[in-house]
Amino acid sequence: MRDKIYYCEPVFRPPSEGYSLLIQLTEGCIYKCDFCISNLRKQFLVREVEDVKRDLNIAKKQYGQRIKKIFFLDGNAMVTPAEKLLEVTKYAKELFPNLERCAVYAHAKDIIKKSDEQLRELSDSGLRMAYVGFESGYNKLLKAVNKHATKEDYIIASKKLFNADITLSATLINGLGGADNPELSEMHAKESADLINKTCPSDDRKWYIAFLTLMVPQGTEIYREKAKGSFKEMDQFEILQELKIFMQNIEFENKNANCVFRSNHASNYLPIKGVLDRDKGKIISTINYGLTHPEVMRPEFYRGL
Ligand SMILES: C[S@@+](CC[C@H](N)C(=O)[O-])C[C@H]1O[C@@H](n2cnc3c(N)ncnc32)[C@H](O)[C@@H]1O
Ligand code: SF4
Repeated sequence: MRDKIYYCEPVFRPPSEGYSLLIQLTEGCIYKCDFCISNLRKQFLVREVEDVKRDLNIAKKQYGQRIKKIFFLDGNAMVTPAEKLLEVTKYAKELFPNLERCAVYAHAKDIIKKSDEQLRELSDSGLRMAYVGFESGYNKLLKAVNKHATKEDYIIASKKLFNADITLSATLINGLGGADNPELSEMHAKESADLINKTCPSDDRKWYIAFLTLMVPQGTEIYREKAKGSFKEMDQFEILQELKIFMQNIEFENKNANCVFRSNHASNYLPIKGVLDRDKGKIISTINYGLTHPEVMRPEFYRGL
């Protein structure tokens, strides 16, 4: 009988899940987005519930009552059929009395596939956070990078999460369209802002938007395109300019919105934080400062995923 929690390396988790118990629920990913390393070198599978429960039991022995947060790996654990996901979250809730929430990465299509009732049940059993990769609101770009989701999917998926009281944390990727195409960059920025404006709920619940900056990891399709010369990365000024256009186009109807905006991931050149759309002006000033003071930007060799 094994006494160590099983992991299929390498594993990826959001920075905000740094203190969470990581439990491998799925391995790999069925989608093959051009920029992502989560789908590489792993055969996709959803693990047997009994194996996942065994890992939770081991964690219970190791950490006792200390577990407050669980993040279910891998890159898209929302693909797990609703009944299986429910069984696992319910079990975790029973096992750890101080558990505040479980969280997953979630592709929009796998949120949409679940009924409102299923999402509500999952939420009631402790699944309270979903990290959704929007990447862009521009359908042409989403198609070009093989995201298998559209702007409309994101709006529907977000509404379903809000209705079930599952907190949304969405990521977008600065520089996704590459350099030498200012029109594409502008559309990426404007359509992404329009997506976020349309996603904004009408109440004051907290939700999260993070902008990462494109990295080109070895093994990805985008890496091969870069090697062939058909994809060129944006420089730090183009990246900030794109972010500025995004920010200029943010306009929430709901003036009580509580959207926590972050662009302070290790991949970003300039750390930015604020609440939208309240801090829009301050954020644009920070971007302008970065554009005129390049020495404040994170050096290339410090960037990472
Ligand atoms: C592990 S993925 C999980 C997302 C989830 N499967 C989905 O499709 O919604 C987490 C996020 O990291 C970001 N990411 C992945 N590869 C990246 C790259 N090469 N450069 C920058 N950000 C990247 C994307 O925003 C992606 O949605
Ligand atoms: S971004 Fe999400 S859906 Fe796309 S390959 Fe990575 S983990 Fe899978």
